[in-house]
Amino acid sequence: MAFPAGFVWGAATSAFQVEGSTTADGRGQSIWDTFAAERGRIADGSTGDPAADHYSRWESDLDLIADLGLPAYRFSVAWPRIQPTGSGAVNQRGVDFYRRLVDGLLTRGIHPAITLYHWDLPQPLQDDGGWAVRATADRFADYAAIMFDALRDVDATWLTINEPKTTAYVGYRWGAHAPGISDVDQAAAAVHHQLLAHGRAVSAFRASGAAGGIGIALNLLPVYPVDLEADPAAVRADAVENRLFLDPILLGRYPTDAIGTLAGQLPADPGAFEDLVQDGDLEVISAPLDLVAVQYYGVTGVDDAGNQVELYPTSLAPWQQVHPEGLYDLLMDLLIDYPDAPPLVITENGIPDPTADGTADDTERLEFLRAHLQQAARAIGDGVRLTGYYAWSLLDNFEWAEGLSQRWGLVHVDFETQERTPKDSARWYSTVVAANAVPR
Ligand code: NOJ
Repeated sequence: MAFPAGFVWGAATSAFQVEGSTTADGRGQSIWDTFAAERGRIADGSTGDPAADHYSRWESDLDLIADLGLPAYRFSVAWPRIQPTGSGAVNQRGVDFYRRLVDGLLTRGIHPAITLYHWDLPQPLQDDGGWAVRATADRFADYAAIMFDALRDVDATWLTINEPKTTAYVGYRWGAHAPGISDVDQAAAAVHHQLLAHGRAVSAFRASGAAGGIGIALNLLPVYPVDLEADPAAVRADAVENRLFLDPILLGRYPTDAIGTLAGQLPADPGAFEDLVQDGDLEVISAPLDLVAVQYYGVTGVDDAGNQVELYPTSLAPWQQVHPEGLYDLLMDLLIDYPDAPPLVITENGIPDPTADGTADDTERLEFLRAHLQQAARAIGDGVRLTGYYAWSLLDNFEWAEGLSQRWGLVHVDFETQERTPKDSARWYSTVVAANAVPR
């Protein structure tokens, strides 16, 4: 199954998950440093240091990307390296690191896709309320402007915020991610303020005249009713999982059925949510984008009570029900529901190894990628404007609350020696990229 000419192939990482060196060159503390240091938060007790030690090994990691023949690489900028306290003066040594990284990519002919926020909020901003307060959106726009200015000559794909849903729900509603808060009102505020931050950053991008394009990375979850009676519950779940993020960005309005509905996820009182939204916010949030980045891992079933139900086997990650056809369904739904949306790029898709230690023999990942790429090709054939695909992840890394115990890499990392070994999936992916086609 062939992909269109110019289709962008890559692999992705994020700063906190791979960099390590959390105090180097003036980096400030992030909420994930704080969270990982608390007893019992991370499954294996690991922290973000050294993770995959990429801050020291970036050059050989770029060689690895080049050796695999990948034309694009998605990484994130650690905000606390740029502004150690989240506001004010720029830490030039932090900016210089990303400048070197980007130049290293460009000299190797690799396209940079740069995520501005992949969850590592500077701790001082959390001390002032984090995403639950509106001022954080202003701080984010300032930080974004610094980066657009520093890399204004680079033809990059910029992504404002990675998975605002995960931050709001897992970080502020269920407390399993940093900042470890369980509060519906703060979760709702975190939704709106991240979307506002996204919109403000898009405005800053346009004002900067920087080259390249900009979008946001949304993790979307197809929701299937288990039977006819479950239909209304599935519509509500779809609102909470997907439309709450897509509608304001692409249509300039919140879906009212997302609020006050599902399992106390958002304030039971819709008024509480409306209070967050000030005049003009939705215009800012719905500023035109150059792309929408989709992160796809699987699907969920929903019963008539609105409970999530397992319809398909899960991976080692219990939240991941693997269903490649769900990617096709998702892409087609986006085409129908948001016909005026900009082109789509898949910025994450992947699976953890079935065992914690991991080896280079990862047939399961290879088959996962093959099946998902076939569905992506099918959707393109049926009219979806999908222009790129980034596998998650380039390297085994720090998988948030699972620490180093869940390996998502195309490339195995021995965390004792930091030795990198491409897995079978990486070799296979290289052949797909070279052929711009997936073997059946
Ligand atoms: C989404 C997140 O963006 C990424 O950081 C994480 O590692 C993967 N999902 C796998 O859980």
